[in-house]
Amino acid sequence: MNQKLKAALIGCGGMGMTHNLSLKALSEEMDVEVVAIADCRREFLEKGAAVWPDARTYETGMELLEKETPDFVHICLPSYLHAEHAIVAMRRGCHVFVEKPVCLSAQDCDRLLAAERETGVKVMVGQVLRSFPEYQYLKKVYEEGSLGELKSLVMRRLSGRVKWGFENWFQDEKKSGGVVLDLHIHDLDFLRYMMGEPDSFEVKASAYDTGMINHIAASYEYGKAFVTAEALWDESPALVFEPSFRAGFREGTLSFNGTKTPGLALFKKNGEIEYPDLQAEQMHNTSMGINISDLGPYYLEIRYFIECIRQNREVELAPLAEGVKSVLLGLEELAAARRYVAGK
Ligand SMILES: NC(=O)c1ccc[n+]([C@@H]2O[C@H](COP(=O)([O-])OP(=O)(O)OC[C@H]3O[C@@H](n4cnc5c(N)ncnc54)[C@H](O)[C@@H]3O)[C@@H](O)[C@H]2O)c1
Repeated sequence: MNQKLKAALIGCGGMGMTHNLSLKALSEEMDVEVVAIADCRREFLEKGAAVWPDARTYETGMELLEKETPDFVHICLPSYLHAEHAIVAMRRGCHVFVEKPVCLSAQDCDRLLAAERETGVKVMVGQVLRSFPEYQYLKKVYEEGSLGELKSLVMRRLSGRVKWGFENWFQDEKKSGGVVLDLHIHDLDFLRYMMGEPDSFEVKASAYDTGMINHIAASYEYGKAFVTAEALWDESPALVFEPSFRAGFREGTLSFNGTKTPGLALFKKNGEIEYPDLQAEQMHNTSMGINISDLGPYYLEIRYFIECIRQNREVELAPLAEGVKSVLLGLEELAAARRYVAGK
């Protein structure tokens, strides 16, 4: 029997709780346990700690990192706090899973990469589309050429105005990076994962009255294919979150809409429609009553990370270097978005 891997969770808000339940579900199959949890809001800390009654609890991430040396740490803090916590965790010799965007500035990208080089720990970034079965299916069809050449790809991520979050941090561009680094980064990271760096890009954008960019429409040239990616934080918080893509291949169109069931459909040139079945692995409840299909790709990406630690394998799915490149492209797009808005 393997010795149990010890994990710590820093940040127990919306995303932290998803990580928390994923780790709990995985503890049934993987010799892993959460030994320490931090959140500066008492009710969130208590809710998180209820999942692991024996875990030690801390008010701040830094206090946890001073007192604990777990095997790995999940950082699910507001984005402006990622880099400093990830660097301290690395220096404590812990492997690190950090949510996206891994950081918000080019300087922090350099500091993170330097800390990773110095410490040799494993770092994975929560660029979760890389673990979404529907997006993996798109990548497979693209790489295998089973529908012929890709001609065009349209990606969308539309959301209402984000009203939750610790001290309203999403609404402060310095803390969240606005819609570009918070929401659009999912699609741009996946594009880079599937197709590499674009030959060029152009951006149109608009901003809230506060000046924060809340809507971006980016178009990318990729050889013979063109790609567009739109991300919106609407004025209204009521707009229902809708992630989607439509990939036009020579022999058919692969279409995904996260608000529909089934979400993924293949429209073939001959008129047939197919619905690829991708969910089989996720459709079960654990004996603790956690529904794995609710956790879906979050459960899958965390399981992958733990396997990398357990088997001492390199993180290839969403390594730090990739998270950093996506932030750097996001920063270029954000600068272009600001120029566009200023020129209006
Ligand atoms: N991968 C995804 O699909 C996805 C989805 C949503 C959010 N995220 C990312 O996850 C991260 C967290 O987002 P969220 O929606 O959970 O935000 P949130 O505000 O709901 O949660 C953050 C938590 O951190 C706590 N916190 C703040 N400062 C702290 C400190 N110094 N020490 C300890 N706790 C502290 C807050 O009390 C809060 O509970 C962000 O980077 C966000 O971009 C990723």
